[in-house]
Amino acid sequence: MKIICAIGTRPEAIKMAPVILSLKAEPWVDVRVLATAQHRHMLDQVMSLFQIEPDIDLNIMRPNQALTTLTARLLLELDKVLLSEKPDVVLAQGDTTTVMAVALACFYHRIPFGHVEAGLRTWDMQNPFPEEANRVIAGKLARWHFAPTESSRQNLLREGIMDSDIVVTGNTVIDALLMTAAKDLELGIELDPEKRLVLITSHRRENFGEPFRNICRALQTLAARNPDVQFLYPVHPNPNIKDVAYEMLGDSSNIHLCAPLDYAPFVAAMKRSYLIISDSGGVQEEAPALGKPVLVLRDETERPEAVEQGVVKLVGPNYERIVEEAQRLLDNESAYQAMARGISPYGDGRSAERIVKVLREHFA
Ligand code: UD1
Ligand code: UDP
Repeated sequence: MKIICAIGTRPEAIKMAPVILSLKAEPWVDVRVLATAQHRHMLDQVMSLFQIEPDIDLNIMRPNQALTTLTARLLLELDKVLLSEKPDVVLAQGDTTTVMAVALACFYHRIPFGHVEAGLRTWDMQNPFPEEANRVIAGKLARWHFAPTESSRQNLLREGIMDSDIVVTGNTVIDALLMTAAKDLELGIELDPEKRLVLITSHRRENFGEPFRNICRALQTLAARNPDVQFLYPVHPNPNIKDVAYEMLGDSSNIHLCAPLDYAPFVAAMKRSYLIISDSGGVQEEAPALGKPVLVLRDETERPEAVEQGVVKLVGPNYERIVEEAQRLLDNESAYQAMARGISPYGDGRSAERIVKVLREHFA
């Protein structure tokens, strides 16, 4: 019985690591790790942290890769892998181009595909782009839907997926977060211990261009108005982000730009932070569990649970909203405390265990 676990980007590696490690402890399954390496350095960072060695590495990433060629190259390489490996099941997580291509290649080869983090929807194909389309396609082709929450299960039912094919497992990101947060964490960047920290990440394709410049303008204003606050921004290497971030923020004395942090130092940064400003999916899930408020640089989210509980707020890539909401949280202690409650709507750290149980009961 052979299961391939496919990973392409940083968040897929973080969220699949607990599943891969749990499956490797099962005697009935031969687990093979397939790295498409849609990301290179950022994927390797996570695999080494969790001590996961890829059995197959497609080394797909090219500088500033375009969606069409990325998809085409993935399909051609995946075709060869599925023909030679002949897995009984393939698992992949989330909504990247890797996941969509893996689901499609499995469908063509009639290999059952299990979708981890199934059922997230904004119901808007343009937001996030191209992830909403990727997860709709992956969901349509999946045999098992491992939904993180009840609301993601409801989304799948609304699309006509059979209830018996859906299992609510929680999100494996909380498994990864708890495994990592339990270790001795070193941020590895010198910060002023007296000053509050605002942590920033941003990478969404729909924000490229003017929306991302608005985000940078808002950060410039916040940094200038709050010299007693330090801003840490590990910049995503996509050139559409990196070039603009360094051009617009490189000169601000209290904004520290750096390369993407390894996951353990990034968890340390989240724990050390006062406030997080981000458009990341994973960070929206992790920060509430650490009791950190998040301002989300998007107009919509497929993760409504934390917004409904009042610990995450959507501010869009909108200059006024970012400045106003961040300043309010920096100035107003009661507004801050209302958002800094530690809750974990996305999981309890046992999601991988539940996913493995479903597969064990089916196959073992
Ligand atoms: C991808 C996913 C997005 C996910 C994000 C997580 C797609 C279309 N996008 O976006 O859903 O939220 O990853 O971070 O699947 N690069 C490097 N080194 C790396 C990684 C990226 O230099 O380790 C640069 C390369 O120039 C690469 C570019 O970033 O071509 C874009 O990478 P890509 O995976 O296509 O898109 P992301 O914006 O990273
Ligand atoms: N992350 C990291 N280093 C960083 C920034 C983020 O390890 O410098 C982690 C973060 O904790 C989360 C994941 O990367 O688990 C999110 O990845 P990203 O924001 O790239 O993708 P998304 O979740 O939006 O798909």
